[in-house]
Amino acid sequence: MREKILALLKEKSPSFVSGAEMAGRLSVSRTAVWKNVNLLQADGYRIERSPRLGYRLQEVPDLLYPLEFAGDLETKIIAAERRLIHYHRQVDSTAEVIKKLAEKGAPEGTIVLAEEQTGGRGRMGRSWYSPFAGGIWLHILLRPPLTPAQTPLLTLLASVAVTKAIRRLLPHVEAGIKWPNDVLVRGRKVCGILTELKAEPDIIHYVITGIGINVNIDAGKFRTELKDTATSLYLENKNNRVSRQKLTAFVLEEMDTFYRQYLSAGSLPVIEEWKKYSITLGEEVTIKNVLDVFWGKAVDVDSSGALVVEGKNGLRRHFQAGEVTLRGTGR
Ligand code: BTN
Repeated sequence: MREKILALLKEKSPSFVSGAEMAGRLSVSRTAVWKNVNLLQADGYRIERSPRLGYRLQEVPDLLYPLEFAGDLETKIIAAERRLIHYHRQVDSTAEVIKKLAEKGAPEGTIVLAEEQTGGRGRMGRSWYSPFAGGIWLHILLRPPLTPAQTPLLTLLASVAVTKAIRRLLPHVEAGIKWPNDVLVRGRKVCGILTELKAEPDIIHYVITGIGINVNIDAGKFRTELKDTATSLYLENKNNRVSRQKLTAFVLEEMDTFYRQYLSAGSLPVIEEWKKYSITLGEEVTIKNVLDVFWGKAVDVDSSGALVVEGKNGLRRHFQAGEVTLRGTGR
């Protein structure tokens, strides 16, 4: 209901719209209109009230109501229609919500966005700090006609899309990618990406990609253990707030473009873009996976997205998964 009221206020803005007209058009009582206007005001919308003329929208907060970011969205698959966008104020984790939708047969391109996650999850069973309106907490559902072996590329693809979106919005912020898909600025993590899939050996049922971008989070808000390793776009933008609405639209557009390109042209263009933004290649790294720890120089990414690391003895190993530490920075 709140969104419908908002749509009417926007349609009439900068003019007033009467409570009676809204109630009539939405087939609800005027009290219901009044209550929902109160809720919008509590969200930060500035709405003028006049006993004679009704309500008038004056200022919009940086919330991710689909109406606020999806109006001019130029995507063909991802969030390409309003019905594909599932917006929540608070969830445990967008992963839970999108999994349920996927299991019920939701179409490719469905997205879930939340203003806040109370149980946001990171890689390796870690938690992911997701305060209200502090970042972009997003999940995307894809049903690619690929084999499970080809999915690591989707993870790389998401990091390229986020990096490009950040640079499009904030050209002076030098976002780069640590293999496979952490987006860092000045050595600190600004975005984490988590991909899960449901598949049989040769067919994918669905892939869900979770993207968490720290946007307007102040330094003091990060937990102690994140203080030296995490950053936000607000901090990298000289303590100026960054539009989550614009960034969300850019991320979805870049994801859509790269995904369609991947399906039509294969992995090479994605890998080329990934290499452009890589902060891993050419560095001495430590890579840890479930089996062992390996030291060497990160020399390449192969066509499947695996990191190629060359050990002291010249031996090259291809890693499909693992945690990389850049030896110079310890990150
Ligand atoms: C990482 O540890 O680097 C991955 C972090 C992924 C966080 C995002 S936020 C939106 C989505 N929902 C979650 O619970 N996690 C992902």
